[in-house]
Amino acid sequence: MDLRQAFKADPARLQALSINAPHVFADLSKNLLSTDTEGLLQELAEQTHVVAQRNAMLLGEAINCTEDRAVMHWLLRTPVQGGALQQSPVVQGWSGATRAALAQVHETLDAMLELAEQVRQDEGITDIVNIGIGGSHLGPEVVVNALEDWVDTGKNFHFVSNVDGHELGHVLRKVRPQSTLFLIASKSFTTAETMLNARSARQWFLEQGGSENPQDELSIDKHFVALTTNVKAAADFGIGRTLGFWDWVGGRFSLWSAIGLPIAIAIGAPQFRSMLDGAHAMDAHFFTAPAAQNLPMRLGLLDVWYRDFCHFSSRCIAPYSHGLRRLTAYLQQLEMESNGKSVTRDGQVLAVRTAPVIWGEPGTNGQHAFFQMLHQGQDVIPVEFIALSDGGKYLGAHHQSLVINAIAQAQALMLGRSDEGAAKDCPGNRPSTFLLLQQLDPASLGALIALYEHRIFVSGAVWGINSFDQWGVELGKKLATQLHARQQSNDWEGVDASTLSLMQRLAQAAG
Ligand code: F6P
Repeated sequence: MDLRQAFKADPARLQALSINAPHVFADLSKNLLSTDTEGLLQELAEQTHVVAQRNAMLLGEAINCTEDRAVMHWLLRTPVQGGALQQSPVVQGWSGATRAALAQVHETLDAMLELAEQVRQDEGITDIVNIGIGGSHLGPEVVVNALEDWVDTGKNFHFVSNVDGHELGHVLRKVRPQSTLFLIASKSFTTAETMLNARSARQWFLEQGGSENPQDELSIDKHFVALTTNVKAAADFGIGRTLGFWDWVGGRFSLWSAIGLPIAIAIGAPQFRSMLDGAHAMDAHFFTAPAAQNLPMRLGLLDVWYRDFCHFSSRCIAPYSHGLRRLTAYLQQLEMESNGKSVTRDGQVLAVRTAPVIWGEPGTNGQHAFFQMLHQGQDVIPVEFIALSDGGKYLGAHHQSLVINAIAQAQALMLGRSDEGAAKDCPGNRPSTFLLLQQLDPASLGALIALYEHRIFVSGAVWGINSFDQWGVELGKKLATQLHARQQSNDWEGVDASTLSLMQRLAQAAG
Protein backbone atom coordinates (compact mmCIF):
# COMPACT_ATOMS: atom_id res chain seq x y z
CA MET A 1 0.00 0.00 0.00
CA ASP A 2 1.00 3.62 -0.42
CA LEU A 3 0.43 5.85 2.60
CA ARG A 4 0.20 9.02 0.53
CA GLN A 5 -2.58 7.53 -1.60
CA ALA A 6 -4.29 6.05 1.43
CA PHE A 7 -4.64 9.49 3.05
CA LYS A 8 -6.00 10.98 -0.20
CA ALA A 9 -8.45 8.12 -0.70
CA ASP A 10 -9.84 8.08 2.81
CA PRO A 11 -10.53 11.35 4.65
CA ALA A 12 -11.48 9.32 7.75
CA ARG A 13 -8.15 7.46 7.86
CA LEU A 14 -6.69 9.46 10.73
CA GLN A 15 -9.77 9.00 12.86
CA ALA A 16 -10.03 5.28 12.15
CA LEU A 17 -6.40 4.70 12.93
CA SER A 18 -5.92 6.87 15.98
CA ILE A 19 -6.94 6.20 19.52
CA ASN A 20 -7.14 8.04 22.83
CA ALA A 21 -6.06 5.68 25.58
CA PRO A 22 -5.50 6.76 29.21
CA HIS A 23 -2.73 9.41 29.20
CA VAL A 24 -1.60 8.43 25.69
CA PHE A 25 -2.88 9.59 22.31
CA ALA A 26 -1.72 7.23 19.57
CA ASP A 27 -1.70 8.09 15.88
CA LEU A 28 -1.31 4.83 13.94
CA SER A 29 -2.42 6.33 10.64
CA LYS A 30 1.08 6.53 9.14
CA ASN A 31 1.47 2.76 9.38
CA LEU A 32 1.20 0.36 6.45
CA LEU A 33 -2.22 -0.65 7.67
CA SER A 34 -5.75 -0.29 6.43
CA THR A 35 -8.88 -0.74 8.47
CA ASP A 36 -9.36 -4.01 6.54
CA THR A 37 -5.93 -5.19 7.64
CA GLU A 38 -6.76 -4.27 11.20
CA GLY A 39 -9.96 -6.32 10.88
CA LEU A 40 -7.97 -9.34 9.71
CA LEU A 41 -5.50 -8.90 12.55
CA GLN A 42 -8.40 -8.81 15.01
CA GLU A 43 -9.50 -12.15 13.51
CA LEU A 44 -6.01 -13.50 14.04
CA ALA A 45 -6.24 -12.40 17.68
CA GLU A 46 -9.51 -14.29 18.00
CA GLN A 47 -8.08 -17.43 16.42
CA THR A 48 -5.08 -17.34 18.76
CA HIS A 49 -7.30 -16.71 21.82
CA VAL A 50 -5.54 -13.55 22.92
CA VAL A 51 -8.47 -12.43 25.07
CA ALA A 52 -8.65 -15.80 26.83
CA GLN A 53 -4.89 -15.64 27.46
CA ARG A 54 -5.22 -12.09 28.78
CA ASN A 55 -8.03 -13.18 31.09
CA ALA A 56 -5.93 -16.10 32.34
CA MET A 57 -3.26 -13.56 33.34
CA LEU A 58 -5.93 -11.47 35.10
CA LEU A 59 -7.18 -14.56 36.92
CA GLY A 60 -3.69 -15.24 38.29
CA GLU A 61 -3.25 -18.53 36.41
CA ALA A 62 0.32 -19.88 36.10
CA ILE A 63 0.78 -18.63 32.52
CA ASN A 64 4.58 -18.56 32.93
CA CYS A 65 4.49 -22.29 32.25
CA THR A 66 8.22 -23.10 32.29
CA GLU A 67 8.58 -21.64 35.78
CA ASP A 68 5.03 -22.53 36.89
CA ARG A 69 4.31 -18.98 38.01
CA ALA A 70 1.47 -16.51 37.74
CA VAL A 71 2.19 -13.19 36.01
CA MET A 72 0.71 -10.42 38.10
CA HIS A 73 2.86 -7.28 37.89
CA TRP A 74 -0.39 -5.42 37.10
CA LEU A 75 -1.62 -6.33 40.63
CA LEU A 76 1.16 -4.11 42.02
CA ARG A 77 -0.74 -1.06 40.79
CA THR A 78 -4.26 -2.29 41.52
CA PRO A 79 -6.09 -0.27 44.23
CA VAL A 80 -7.17 -2.10 47.39
CA GLN A 81 -10.69 -2.80 46.14
CA GLY A 82 -9.67 -3.65 42.58
CA GLY A 83 -10.23 -0.10 41.25
CA ALA A 84 -11.28 0.20 37.62
CA LEU A 85 -10.46 -3.49 37.08
CA GLN A 86 -13.76 -4.23 38.83
CA GLN A 87 -15.36 -3.39 35.46
CA SER A 88 -13.97 -6.69 34.20
CA PRO A 89 -16.26 -9.64 34.91
CA VAL A 90 -13.10 -11.77 35.17
CA VAL A 91 -12.25 -10.05 38.45
CA GLN A 92 -15.40 -11.55 39.98
CA GLY A 93 -13.64 -14.90 39.56
CA TRP A 94 -10.56 -13.89 41.52
CA SER A 95 -9.47 -16.62 43.90
CA GLY A 96 -8.92 -16.04 47.60
CA ALA A 97 -5.19 -16.29 46.85
CA THR A 98 -5.32 -13.38 44.39
CA ARG A 99 -7.27 -11.26 46.86
CA ALA A 100 -4.77 -12.16 49.59
CA ALA A 101 -1.91 -11.25 47.24
CA LEU A 102 -3.52 -7.83 46.66
CA ALA A 103 -3.71 -7.24 50.42
CA GLN A 104 -0.01 -8.18 50.74
CA VAL A 105 0.85 -5.85 47.87
CA HIS A 106 -0.64 -2.93 49.76
CA GLU A 107 1.01 -3.88 53.02
CA THR A 108 4.41 -3.94 51.33
CA LEU A 109 3.70 -0.79 49.33
CA ASP A 110 2.77 1.11 52.48
CA ALA A 111 5.94 -0.12 54.21
CA MET A 112 8.07 0.82 51.22
CA LEU A 113 6.58 4.29 50.95
CA GLU A 114 7.03 4.83 54.68
CA LEU A 115 10.71 3.90 54.38
CA ALA A 116 11.02 6.15 51.33
CA GLU A 117 9.59 9.08 53.27
CA GLN A 118 11.96 8.43 56.19
CA VAL A 119 14.93 8.47 53.83
CA ARG A 120 13.63 11.62 52.15
CA GLN A 121 13.41 13.39 55.52
CA ASP A 122 16.87 12.22 56.56
CA GLU A 123 19.15 15.12 55.67
CA GLY A 124 22.16 13.03 56.68
CA ILE A 125 21.67 10.82 53.62
CA THR A 126 22.77 12.66 50.50
CA ASP A 127 23.46 9.76 48.10
CA ILE A 128 21.40 6.76 47.09
CA VAL A 129 23.35 3.99 45.32
CA ASN A 130 21.17 1.39 43.62
CA ILE A 131 23.07 -1.82 42.81
CA GLY A 132 21.16 -4.12 40.46
CA ILE A 133 21.05 -5.21 36.83
CA GLY A 134 18.43 -5.84 34.12
CA GLY A 135 14.97 -5.36 35.56
CA SER A 136 16.46 -4.48 38.93
CA HIS A 137 18.18 -1.49 37.34
CA LEU A 138 16.64 -0.30 34.08
CA GLY A 139 13.12 0.44 35.35
CA PRO A 140 14.17 2.59 38.33
CA GLU A 141 16.83 4.29 36.22
CA VAL A 142 14.51 5.18 33.36
CA VAL A 143 11.86 6.53 35.73
CA VAL A 144 14.21 8.54 37.98
CA ASN A 145 15.73 10.12 34.85
CA ALA A 146 12.37 10.74 33.23
CA LEU A 147 10.88 12.35 36.32
CA GLU A 148 13.90 14.52 37.10
CA ASP A 149 11.64 17.57 37.33
CA TRP A 150 9.74 15.78 40.11
CA VAL A 151 12.82 14.78 42.08
CA ASP A 152 12.67 17.13 45.04
CA THR A 153 14.83 15.51 47.72
CA GLY A 154 18.14 17.21 47.02
CA LYS A 155 19.75 13.78 47.04
CA ASN A 156 21.99 12.28 44.37
CA PHE A 157 20.95 9.03 42.69
CA HIS A 158 23.54 6.58 41.33
CA PHE A 159 22.72 3.42 39.42
CA VAL A 160 25.41 0.75 39.34
CA SER A 161 24.70 -2.26 37.14
CA ASN A 162 27.78 -3.35 35.22
CA VAL A 163 30.22 -5.75 36.81
CA ASP A 164 32.95 -3.58 35.27
CA GLY A 165 34.59 -2.18 38.40
CA HIS A 166 34.91 1.24 36.77
CA GLU A 167 31.23 1.87 37.29
CA LEU A 168 31.12 1.14 41.03
CA GLY A 169 34.62 2.59 41.50
CA HIS A 170 33.59 5.95 40.03
CA VAL A 171 30.52 6.12 42.27
CA LEU A 172 32.44 5.15 45.42
CA ARG A 173 34.94 7.93 44.71
CA LYS A 174 32.10 10.45 44.90
CA VAL A 175 30.27 9.31 48.04
CA ARG A 176 30.96 9.05 51.79
CA PRO A 177 29.78 6.07 53.85
CA GLN A 178 28.11 8.28 56.50
CA SER A 179 25.81 9.90 53.95
CA THR A 180 25.15 6.98 51.58
CA LEU A 181 22.31 4.49 51.46
CA PHE A 182 23.01 1.39 49.34
CA LEU A 183 20.01 -0.40 47.84
CA ILE A 184 20.89 -3.95 46.79
CA ALA A 185 18.21 -4.74 44.22
CA SER A 186 17.97 -8.31 43.02
CA LYS A 187 14.86 -10.44 42.69
CA SER A 188 16.90 -13.63 43.08
CA PHE A 189 19.74 -12.21 45.20
CA THR A 190 22.03 -14.56 43.29
CA THR A 191 22.81 -12.61 40.08
CA ALA A 192 26.61 -12.78 39.84
CA GLU A 193 27.21 -9.17 38.74
CA THR A 194 24.98 -7.70 41.43
CA MET A 195 26.43 -9.92 44.14
CA LEU A 196 30.00 -8.98 43.22
CA ASN A 197 29.12 -5.28 43.18
CA ALA A 198 27.25 -5.64 46.48
CA ARG A 199 30.19 -7.45 48.13
CA SER A 200 32.62 -4.79 46.90
CA ALA A 201 30.36 -1.99 48.16
CA ARG A 202 30.10 -3.74 51.52
CA GLN A 203 33.86 -4.19 51.73
CA TRP A 204 34.44 -0.51 50.85
CA PHE A 205 31.92 0.49 53.52
CA LEU A 206 33.71 -1.58 56.18
CA GLU A 207 37.12 -0.27 55.09
CA GLN A 208 35.82 3.28 55.45
CA GLY A 209 34.98 2.69 59.12
CA GLY A 210 31.60 0.99 58.72
CA SER A 211 30.55 -1.71 61.14
CA GLU A 212 28.71 -5.03 61.07
CA ASN A 213 27.20 -4.30 64.49
CA PRO A 214 23.62 -3.04 63.97
CA GLN A 215 23.91 -0.95 67.17
CA ASP A 216 26.63 1.24 65.66
CA GLU A 217 25.71 4.47 63.94
CA LEU A 218 27.74 3.64 60.81
CA SER A 219 26.39 0.11 60.44
CA ILE A 220 25.51 -2.02 57.44
CA ASP A 221 22.08 -2.28 58.98
CA LYS A 222 21.52 1.48 58.70
CA HIS A 223 23.22 1.99 55.34
CA PHE A 224 22.13 -1.05 53.28
CA VAL A 225 18.62 -2.14 52.27
CA ALA A 226 17.85 -5.27 50.23
CA LEU A 227 15.04 -5.32 47.64
CA THR A 228 14.43 -8.98 46.87
CA THR A 229 12.17 -12.03 46.93
CA ASN A 230 15.04 -13.98 48.53
CA VAL A 231 14.88 -12.60 52.08
CA LYS A 232 17.06 -15.40 53.45
CA ALA A 233 19.95 -14.70 51.04
CA ALA A 234 19.79 -11.01 51.95
CA ALA A 235 19.96 -11.91 55.66
CA ASP A 236 22.89 -14.27 55.00
CA PHE A 237 24.62 -11.37 53.24
CA GLY A 238 24.21 -9.41 56.47
CA ILE A 239 21.43 -7.04 55.48
CA GLY A 240 18.73 -6.71 58.13
CA ARG A 241 16.38 -4.33 56.33
CA THR A 242 14.62 -6.04 53.43
CA LEU A 243 11.64 -5.09 51.31
CA GLY A 244 10.22 -8.17 49.69
CA PHE A 245 8.13 -9.02 46.65
CA TRP A 246 6.87 -12.17 44.99
CA ASP A 247 7.87 -14.70 42.35
CA TRP A 248 4.87 -13.66 40.24
CA VAL A 249 6.61 -10.34 39.50
CA GLY A 250 8.96 -10.85 36.54
CA GLY A 251 12.29 -9.01 36.85
CA ARG A 252 11.62 -6.80 33.82
CA PHE A 253 8.16 -5.93 35.17
CA SER A 254 9.30 -5.13 38.71
CA LEU A 255 9.68 -1.35 38.90
CA TRP A 256 6.22 -1.16 40.52
CA SER A 257 7.35 -3.38 43.42
CA ALA A 258 9.98 -2.90 46.15
CA ILE A 259 12.47 -2.57 43.27
CA GLY A 260 10.88 0.88 42.82
CA LEU A 261 12.24 2.13 46.18
CA PRO A 262 14.76 4.51 44.54
CA ILE A 263 11.87 6.00 42.54
CA ALA A 264 9.80 6.47 45.70
CA ILE A 265 12.76 8.12 47.47
CA ALA A 266 13.27 10.39 44.46
CA ILE A 267 9.69 11.58 43.89
CA GLY A 268 7.92 10.83 47.19
CA ALA A 269 4.95 8.66 48.12
CA PRO A 270 2.12 10.69 46.52
CA GLN A 271 3.89 10.86 43.16
CA PHE A 272 4.81 7.17 43.30
CA ARG A 273 1.13 6.40 43.88
CA SER A 274 0.27 8.66 40.96
CA MET A 275 2.61 6.60 38.74
CA LEU A 276 0.83 3.43 39.89
CA ASP A 277 -2.54 5.09 39.16
CA GLY A 278 -1.46 5.94 35.61
CA ALA A 279 -0.36 2.36 35.03
CA HIS A 280 -3.60 1.07 36.55
CA ALA A 281 -5.64 3.25 34.18
CA MET A 282 -3.80 1.56 31.28
CA ASP A 283 -4.37 -1.88 32.87
CA ALA A 284 -8.10 -1.23 33.13
CA HIS A 285 -8.12 -0.08 29.49
CA PHE A 286 -6.27 -3.22 28.38
CA PHE A 287 -8.36 -5.63 30.43
CA THR A 288 -11.76 -4.10 29.62
CA ALA A 289 -11.78 -2.10 26.35
CA PRO A 290 -13.15 -3.91 23.29
CA ALA A 291 -10.36 -5.20 21.04
CA ALA A 292 -10.98 -2.64 18.30
CA GLN A 293 -10.54 0.27 20.75
CA ASN A 294 -7.82 -1.32 22.81
CA LEU A 295 -4.45 0.36 22.27
CA PRO A 296 -2.12 -2.38 23.60
CA MET A 297 -4.11 -4.86 21.51
CA ARG A 298 -3.82 -2.80 18.33
CA LEU A 299 -0.12 -2.11 18.82
CA GLY A 300 0.65 -5.75 19.64
CA LEU A 301 -1.15 -6.85 16.46
CA LEU A 302 0.66 -4.18 14.45
CA ASP A 303 3.94 -5.67 15.73
CA VAL A 304 2.89 -9.12 14.50
CA TRP A 305 1.84 -7.62 11.15
CA TYR A 306 5.21 -5.95 10.62
CA ARG A 307 7.30 -8.90 11.80
CA ASP A 308 5.52 -11.78 10.09
CA PHE A 309 3.65 -10.33 7.14
CA CYS A 310 5.88 -7.38 6.16
CA HIS A 311 9.12 -9.12 7.33
CA PHE A 312 10.52 -6.03 9.08
CA SER A 313 13.21 -7.23 11.43
CA SER A 314 13.68 -4.19 13.64
CA ARG A 315 11.77 -1.29 15.14
CA CYS A 316 13.28 2.07 16.03
CA ILE A 317 12.17 3.84 19.21
CA ALA A 318 12.70 7.59 19.02
CA PRO A 319 11.62 9.38 22.20
CA TYR A 320 11.66 13.13 21.53
CA SER A 321 12.35 13.82 25.18
CA HIS A 322 15.63 14.10 27.02
CA GLY A 323 13.85 12.70 30.09
CA LEU A 324 13.15 9.48 28.18
CA ARG A 325 16.79 9.03 27.15
CA ARG A 326 17.03 5.58 28.80
CA LEU A 327 13.61 4.37 27.62
CA THR A 328 14.94 2.45 24.63
CA ALA A 329 17.38 0.47 26.80
CA TYR A 330 14.49 -0.37 29.12
CA LEU A 331 12.24 -1.40 26.23
CA GLN A 332 15.00 -3.54 24.74
CA GLN A 333 14.93 -5.75 27.83
CA LEU A 334 11.15 -5.63 28.08
CA GLU A 335 10.48 -6.70 24.51
CA MET A 336 13.53 -8.72 23.47
CA GLU A 337 13.89 -10.68 26.72
CA SER A 338 10.13 -11.34 26.71
CA ASN A 339 9.53 -12.21 23.09
CA GLY A 340 12.94 -13.24 21.73
CA LYS A 341 11.84 -16.88 21.62
CA SER A 342 11.61 -19.55 18.94
CA VAL A 343 9.42 -22.25 20.45
CA THR A 344 5.80 -22.14 21.52
CA ARG A 345 4.55 -22.66 25.04
CA ASP A 346 4.21 -26.38 24.30
CA GLY A 347 7.71 -26.69 22.85
CA GLN A 348 6.92 -26.58 19.11
CA VAL A 349 9.43 -24.81 16.87
CA LEU A 350 7.77 -21.66 15.56
CA ALA A 351 7.32 -21.27 11.83
CA VAL A 352 7.09 -17.48 12.13
CA ARG A 353 9.43 -14.77 13.43
CA THR A 354 9.02 -13.23 16.87
CA ALA A 355 10.50 -10.12 18.55
CA PRO A 356 12.18 -7.60 16.25
CA VAL A 357 15.40 -5.87 17.23
CA ILE A 358 14.46 -2.84 19.31
CA TRP A 359 16.86 0.05 19.05
CA GLY A 360 17.00 3.84 18.98
CA GLU A 361 18.10 7.05 20.61
CA PRO A 362 16.28 10.20 21.62
CA GLY A 363 15.47 12.78 18.98
CA THR A 364 16.68 15.08 17.72
CA ASN A 365 20.11 13.45 18.30
CA GLY A 366 19.09 10.39 16.29
CA GLN A 367 18.32 12.60 13.29
CA HIS A 368 22.02 13.42 13.07
CA ALA A 369 23.08 9.80 13.39
CA PHE A 370 20.94 7.00 11.96
CA PHE A 371 17.90 8.73 10.46
CA GLN A 372 19.72 8.89 7.13
CA MET A 373 19.33 5.12 6.90
CA LEU A 374 15.67 5.30 7.90
CA HIS A 375 15.02 7.67 4.99
CA GLN A 376 17.22 6.22 2.26
CA GLY A 377 18.48 2.81 3.39
CA GLN A 378 17.26 -0.41 1.77
CA ASP A 379 15.51 -1.80 4.81
CA VAL A 380 12.15 -0.51 5.92
CA ILE A 381 12.30 0.12 9.67
CA PRO A 382 9.11 1.24 11.40
CA VAL A 383 9.76 4.15 13.75
CA GLU A 384 7.97 4.92 16.99
CA PHE A 385 7.96 8.61 17.86
CA ILE A 386 7.18 9.41 21.50
CA ALA A 387 6.57 13.08 22.27
CA LEU A 388 4.97 15.34 24.86
CA SER A 389 2.41 18.09 24.18
CA ASP A 390 3.67 20.11 27.11
CA GLY A 391 7.42 20.16 27.62
CA GLY A 392 7.42 21.28 31.24
CA LYS A 393 9.17 24.18 32.81
CA TYR A 394 12.29 24.72 30.74
CA LEU A 395 12.70 26.89 27.66
CA GLY A 396 9.35 26.52 25.87
CA ALA A 397 10.76 27.49 22.48
CA HIS A 398 13.06 24.48 22.61
CA HIS A 399 10.07 22.22 23.17
CA GLN A 400 8.27 23.60 20.12
CA SER A 401 11.35 22.96 18.03
CA LEU A 402 11.77 19.46 19.48
CA VAL A 403 8.23 18.29 18.75
CA ILE A 404 8.05 19.98 15.36
CA ASN A 405 11.17 18.01 14.43
CA ALA A 406 9.44 14.76 15.45
CA ILE A 407 6.34 15.60 13.43
CA ALA A 408 8.45 16.63 10.44
CA GLN A 409 10.47 13.41 10.55
CA ALA A 410 7.31 11.30 10.59
CA GLN A 411 6.02 13.33 7.67
CA ALA A 412 9.30 13.05 5.75
CA LEU A 413 9.41 9.28 6.22
CA MET A 414 5.93 9.04 4.72
CA LEU A 415 6.17 11.63 1.94
CA GLY A 416 9.71 11.03 0.73
CA ARG A 417 11.04 13.11 -2.15
CA SER A 418 11.22 12.33 -5.86
CA ASP A 419 12.27 15.51 -7.64
CA GLU A 420 15.95 15.90 -6.85
CA GLY A 421 17.66 13.03 -8.70
CA ALA A 422 18.49 9.50 -7.61
CA ALA A 423 21.14 10.37 -4.99
CA LYS A 424 18.94 12.86 -3.20
CA ASP A 425 15.55 11.21 -3.58
CA CYS A 426 13.91 9.42 -0.67
CA PRO A 427 11.41 6.67 -1.42
CA GLY A 428 8.93 7.66 1.30
CA ASN A 429 6.07 5.38 2.33
CA ARG A 430 8.09 4.52 5.43
CA PRO A 431 5.86 3.72 8.40
CA SER A 432 5.75 5.32 11.81
CA THR A 433 3.61 5.45 14.93
CA PHE A 434 3.24 8.66 16.93
CA LEU A 435 2.59 8.40 20.67
CA LEU A 436 1.77 11.69 22.38
CA LEU A 437 1.62 12.20 26.15
CA GLN A 438 0.24 15.39 27.64
CA GLN A 439 3.38 15.79 29.74
CA LEU A 440 6.08 13.68 31.34
CA ASP A 441 4.46 13.34 34.75
CA PRO A 442 4.34 10.23 36.97
CA ALA A 443 0.86 9.16 35.84
CA SER A 444 1.60 9.49 32.12
CA LEU A 445 4.90 7.67 32.45
CA GLY A 446 3.19 4.86 34.39
CA ALA A 447 0.59 4.55 31.64
CA LEU A 448 3.22 4.57 28.87
CA ILE A 449 5.26 1.78 30.46
CA ALA A 450 2.15 -0.31 31.17
CA LEU A 451 1.13 0.19 27.53
CA TYR A 452 4.40 -1.42 26.39
CA GLU A 453 4.07 -4.28 28.90
CA HIS A 454 0.62 -5.17 27.57
CA ARG A 455 1.49 -4.69 23.93
CA ILE A 456 4.30 -7.21 24.32
CA PHE A 457 1.87 -9.59 26.01
CA VAL A 458 -0.43 -9.36 22.98
CA SER A 459 2.21 -10.16 20.34
CA GLY A 460 3.58 -12.96 22.56
CA ALA A 461 0.06 -14.38 22.93
CA VAL A 462 -0.49 -14.40 19.14
CA TRP A 463 2.83 -16.20 18.69
CA GLY A 464 1.88 -18.64 21.44
CA ILE A 465 5.17 -18.17 23.28
CA ASN A 466 5.90 -17.78 26.99
CA SER A 467 6.81 -14.09 27.26
CA PHE A 468 7.77 -14.43 30.92
CA ASP A 469 10.83 -16.67 31.07
CA GLN A 470 14.43 -16.01 29.86
CA TRP A 471 16.25 -19.33 29.57
CA GLY A 472 18.61 -17.97 26.93
CA VAL A 473 20.14 -15.63 29.50
CA GLU A 474 20.75 -18.57 31.82
CA LEU A 475 23.10 -20.27 29.34
CA GLY A 476 25.57 -17.36 29.35
CA LYS A 477 25.47 -17.25 33.16
CA LYS A 478 26.21 -20.98 33.34
CA LEU A 479 29.16 -20.82 30.95
CA ALA A 480 30.67 -17.82 32.79
CA THR A 481 30.52 -19.85 36.00
CA GLN A 482 32.21 -22.80 34.26
CA LEU A 483 35.00 -20.57 32.93
CA HIS A 484 35.63 -19.18 36.42
CA ALA A 485 35.92 -22.78 37.70
CA ARG A 486 38.26 -23.83 34.86
CA GLN A 487 40.43 -20.80 35.53
CA GLN A 488 40.74 -21.83 39.18
CA SER A 489 41.61 -25.45 38.37
CA ASN A 490 43.53 -24.63 35.17
CA ASP A 491 41.61 -27.41 33.44
CA TRP A 492 41.01 -26.62 29.76
CA GLU A 493 40.20 -30.15 28.58
CA GLY A 494 37.70 -30.06 25.68
CA VAL A 495 37.52 -26.25 25.47
CA ASP A 496 37.38 -24.79 21.94
CA ALA A 497 40.52 -23.07 20.62
CA SER A 498 39.02 -19.58 20.43
CA THR A 499 37.73 -19.59 24.01
CA LEU A 500 41.01 -21.05 25.27
CA SER A 501 43.12 -18.44 23.48
CA LEU A 502 41.00 -15.57 24.84
CA MET A 503 41.27 -16.98 28.38
CA GLN A 504 45.05 -17.29 27.98
CA ARG A 505 45.32 -13.67 26.83
CA LEU A 506 43.29 -12.60 29.87
CA ALA A 507 45.57 -14.61 32.17
CA GLN A 508 48.70 -13.12 30.56
CA ALA A 509 47.38 -9.57 31.01
CA ALA A 510 46.56 -10.29 34.66
CA GLY A 511 50.15 -11.54 35.10
O1 F6P B 1 18.74 -10.85 32.42
C1 F6P B 1 18.24 -11.96 33.12
C2 F6P B 1 17.60 -11.53 34.39
O2 F6P B 1 17.15 -12.67 35.03
C3 F6P B 1 16.47 -10.52 34.20
O3 F6P B 1 15.29 -11.09 33.82
C4 F6P B 1 16.48 -9.82 35.49
O4 F6P B 1 15.81 -8.60 35.40
C5 F6P B 1 17.95 -9.67 35.74
O5 F6P B 1 18.52 -10.88 35.27
C6 F6P B 1 18.34 -9.44 37.16
O6 F6P B 1 17.92 -10.47 38.01
P1 F6P B 1 17.84 -10.28 39.57
O7 F6P B 1 16.88 -9.19 39.86
O8 F6P B 1 17.41 -11.61 40.11
O9 F6P B 1 19.23 -9.92 40.06
